[in-house]
Amino acid sequence: MTPVKRKGDYVIRYKNGYCTLSGRGVFMSDDPTSKSEQQRAIDKCFGKVLVGGLGLGVAVELLIQKDSVTKIVVVEKEAEIIELVWGHLRLNDNCKIVWGDIYDYIKTTEHFDCCYLDIWSERKEGEANKLVKLAEKIATNVIWYSDNL
Ligand SMILES: C[S@@+](CC[C@H](N)C(=O)[O-])C[C@H]1O[C@@H](n2cnc3c(N)ncnc32)[C@H](O)[C@@H]1O
Repeated sequence: MTPVKRKGDYVIRYKNGYCTLSGRGVFMSDDPTSKSEQQRAIDKCFGKVLVGGLGLGVAVELLIQKDSVTKIVVVEKEAEIIELVWGHLRLNDNCKIVWGDIYDYIKTTEHFDCCYLDIWSERKEGEANKLVKLAEKIATNVIWYSDNL
């Protein structure tokens, strides 16, 4: 496997058996600590799940393993991240990726059982409450990443 993959401002690096995604204030790793943080959030998900933020796709791969999860819609705003990550995930027919902003997608009239929001970046951290309130209009159970640390 190549040690580095790049698309635009985003870079995936492989080191010591783990990988990191970084660029434009985004950072994600699939190391055991990051994975267990994602697992704690995913433990709360069931049914039809809307995911805000693809990142490295750790959450998506954990969701796929749950029998109680029937559909996964992932909204990611960076095309380069989708290109770097989506094609490399172990997906099934219940998974869909949408290139867009979760703030726009959340205005959909479609209903979800769960909405997992992990769009953390240095710029966006303060906006959690606003987004969670919007998500509560379309999803029964809203999970915000930082609440699982
Ligand atoms: C920390 S990563 C997500 C990590 C992911 N949970 C995982 O398991 O790998 C944050 C992601 O959210 C995306 N993002 C940030 N703001 C967004 C927005 N408004 N709409 C959609 N995606 C967004 C970033 O581009 C990045 O891919």
